[in-house]
Amino acid sequence: MFEHLFVFSLSLSLSLIAHSQHGRVKVKSTAQQEEEKRKEREKKLKVYLTVRDAIFKKRGNGELDDEALQLTQQLLSSNPDFATLWNYRREILLHLETIKEEEETQKLYEAELLFIESCLKMNPKSYGSWHHRGWVSSRLPRPDWTRELSLCDRCLSLDDRNFHCWDYRRLVVKASGVPVDQELQFTDRLIGSNFSNYSSWHYRSTLLPLLHPESGSEPAVCEEQLLKEYELVQNAFFTDPNDQSAWFYYRWLLGRAEREELISCVYASREGERVAVAFSKPVNVRHSCTSTLLVIMYEWRIPVSCVDQHVYKCSLLKYFWIHMNVPSNWCRDSATDQELFRSELSVEKTSVLQSELQSCTQLLELEPQNKWCVLTIILLMRALDPLGHEKETLAHFQTLKEVDPMRSSYYSDLCSKFMIENTILKMEYAEVRVFSLSDKNLSTLCHLDQLLLVTHINLSSNQLVTLPPQFSMLHCLEVLEADDNVIENLEGLYHLPKLEEVSLKNNRILYLSDLEPLASCPKLTRLDLRGNPVTKTANIQAELSQLLPSVTDLLL
Ligand SMILES: *[C@@H]1O[C@H](CO)[C@@H](O)[C@H](O)[C@H]1NC(C)=O
Ligand SMILES: *[C@@H]1O[C@H](CO)[C@@H](O)[C@H](O)[C@H]1NC(C)=O
Ligand SMILES: *[C@@H]1O[C@H](CO)[C@@H](O)[C@H](O)[C@H]1NC(C)=O
Ligand SMILES: *[C@@H]1O[C@H](CO)[C@@H](O)[C@H](O)[C@H]1NC(C)=O
Repeated sequence: MFEHLFVFSLSLSLSLIAHSQHGRVKVKSTAQQEEEKRKEREKKLKVYLTVRDAIFKKRGNGELDDEALQLTQQLLSSNPDFATLWNYRREILLHLETIKEEEETQKLYEAELLFIESCLKMNPKSYGSWHHRGWVSSRLPRPDWTRELSLCDRCLSLDDRNFHCWDYRRLVVKASGVPVDQELQFTDRLIGSNFSNYSSWHYRSTLLPLLHPESGSEPAVCEEQLLKEYELVQNAFFTDPNDQSAWFYYRWLLGRAEREELISCVYASREGERVAVAFSKPVNVRHSCTSTLLVIMYEWRIPVSCVDQHVYKCSLLKYFWIHMNVPSNWCRDSATDQELFRSELSVEKTSVLQSELQSCTQLLELEPQNKWCVLTIILLMRALDPLGHEKETLAHFQTLKEVDPMRSSYYSDLCSKFMIENTILKMEYAEVRVFSLSDKNLSTLCHLDQLLLVTHINLSSNQLVTLPPQFSMLHCLEVLEADDNVIENLEGLYHLPKLEEVSLKNNRILYLSDLEPLASCPKLTRLDLRGNPVTKTANIQAELSQLLPSVTDLLL
């Protein structure tokens, strides 16, 4: 309770000075001052606790009256973060609403708004006050949204990073039906006065999809507006290349173009009684009308697991096969490189991005250490031509790690992602079942859903620490090579029905228990563990033949 006391400390300047009888100013001794301050605090604390106890008692008795309003006001005006008291006030107000005329209710809530305003003056970032204001506004018989909006304006002009106020503003805008384009002009003004306004950029990003929706269910931004936004944001970072707010917004814009929803691959195995379907982006089974396959599955009541993921697996009902008359294994994939990791760019957009890339490259000559600029160049290159720019992209990642070593592992992961994408783009998807990602400095694995049909994978000579759970999507995998990494964990080598050979030379597998997932792979016969600490375990041979009885060819 003591932390609430700060508000009661007296205005010290007054207590420091006392007037003597002769009208001369006499400074009190320090000890005297301390003693007086202490007494004063004690007195305030007493009052505070008395009021608090009185409030709790009234609430306990279910009293919902004006006196309770006054008492809570007394405490809240000094400590607006005392959430229980706001709750109590809401109970009281709701009760008073039932016994008062509408006109009186209006007055009551208007007074409440005034009171909250005084609390916000004391602490503009008090969550309790903003929350209560939102509640009061929603109860007010005749709300004055214009006034609320200008309150937000005033508050944001004092501190544009007050996120409680931004939240409240969104609520006001929504409730009052302020046209979104008017709000957008508001951010235009803010950005015009100073580009470095993180909150305004962010607010803009929440408004744009409302104002310029692209057809389709996803919130996106239509291309015409997108092009205008590129220009605006480019002006911003050319004016101040170190201003992070504009770069963030730019990244948001670059991520706007949505990929089309496609089935990229279907795999069905009679033997395994399973079908796996990979999509170009996460789909919601229940709302997806484009994927006929899911409709079939639904009609046939084939259970579909994991909603909103890239890959669906399900067990097949036997008659599915009889009806469909498919061969024992069947697959189809339709992915082509454009569809995979970027959306089709229109000619117009391509030329805009092209000129963006040129501008950024110029900027980089002036500001070679600017990590935002480097990162944006990488993203633009990927949007335009990921394979053509691969070499430059790698060099830029090297630069990023040098100028921003603190985020080096983030850059490694991002680079890994791009390298995997490039490798997938390079393979001729329909033909290739052998996939090599060796020697690429990979620190993480992703896009495994694109590799459903791969039978051989080479992950040797990377920096991988783990084979993640998504690895268990690779139903067709027969041979896995992952030598010379720093792998400690095999959790993804789980229930792989066709896996026969695993090579894990020179990794960091420490314990026998780390190998347990392999026991769920029925066809595993060959395992190479040379150069792992686990091989030093006592009795390792016997332990392993017990854990993995199917492995006949074990290298330790
Ligand atoms: C950012 O926007 C607020 C919003 O009103 C504005 O008042 C403020 O001056 C802007 N910040 C800067 C640094 O210009
Ligand atoms: C814009 O805002 C930033 C951050 O608040 C401030 O450092 C900068 O001086 C402002 N620039 C101008 C021109 O007011
Ligand atoms: C896998 O990659 C490693 C490292 O590049 C290489 O030495 C090995 O020969 C590759 N395996 C196959 C089967 O090509
Ligand atoms: C891997 O990283 C090292 C050091 O960062 C670098 O020298 C090497 O060129 C990278 N190799 C590849 C294939 O990117």
